[in-house]
Amino acid sequence: MSNLEVRKFDWDFEGIPFIWNPEQPRFSVLMNQITFVIISFERYITKAMREAEARITDDEVKLEARLFGQQEGVHAAAHTKHARALIAQYPGLQTILDKCQESYDAQFEAESLEYHLAYAGSMEAIFTPFFKMVLDHREILFEGGDERLSSMLLWHFCEEIEHRSSALMVYDDVVGSYWYRFRNAGPMRKHVRALFEMSIEEFKKHVPDVPHDVYEGNPFASVPRPATLRSAVGVLASQAPWHDPAHQPLPDYYDEWIGKYTGGEDVMRLYGQPAMTAGAAAAASAVGDAR
Ligand SMILES: [Fe+2]
Ligand SMILES: [Fe+2]
Repeated sequence: MSNLEVRKFDWDFEGIPFIWNPEQPRFSVLMNQITFVIISFERYITKAMREAEARITDDEVKLEARLFGQQEGVHAAAHTKHARALIAQYPGLQTILDKCQESYDAQFEAESLEYHLAYAGSMEAIFTPFFKMVLDHREILFEGGDERLSSMLLWHFCEEIEHRSSALMVYDDVVGSYWYRFRNAGPMRKHVRALFEMSIEEFKKHVPDVPHDVYEGNPFASVPRPATLRSAVGVLASQAPWHDPAHQPLPDYYDEWIGKYTGGEDVMRLYGQPAMTAGAAAAASAVGDAR
């Protein structure tokens, strides 16, 4: 039996500032990059899982693929709401969504199902050590942020932990070859990196009220170095043939979040500061500047 649950929420990010955590501007930008790139990435996975179902022989794996694809579809919809709220303020940002979608559509056309599943397997394996570091340091990274987005990201990253084994499970059932995945890992990482770099360039063009130095530096500069190093080592190890996400160290927060969700807490307002609005944030900083 799969342990995945598809949880749907009606997110609303209207008026959210581009820098949604004033204490962590570079991290805010990274999460915005994730929003714009991940929408088409997760839709691509959802499509690949649908196509894979016909090729999966094991019923358990088939169910896993279905629920995994659905979770990613729901994540993409949540990030679309965030992207729409930013596009309403900076219409030029639509370019990023269009470019990412074009890129993933072209890849879906040009490459085989084997490639799509290897792509999902390699990328999703990276997420567990990466999001563990993020969730472990939620106080530093999310506490000062707009509670709507902080809570959405915490939900999303917990579900990434929940379905950490799904993509590899499907890959192993349908394709199985480690070497095929390994051979293609370089170009896959290059593809994602190019989209992330493109998104920064587009932010610079279309978000006039954010100084360009916000895009410089390390988004995790406030996270203790041993934790970021551990995460980096975990990311490298996640690509090894013997890697099994099921045996990864997990963030305690996953169980905590599930406990709050099943206990009926409002997980849409779980973490961070009362909803901020871009106009109010700008006015507050203008008052601060005038003093
Ligand atoms: Fe996701
Ligand atoms: Fe995922």
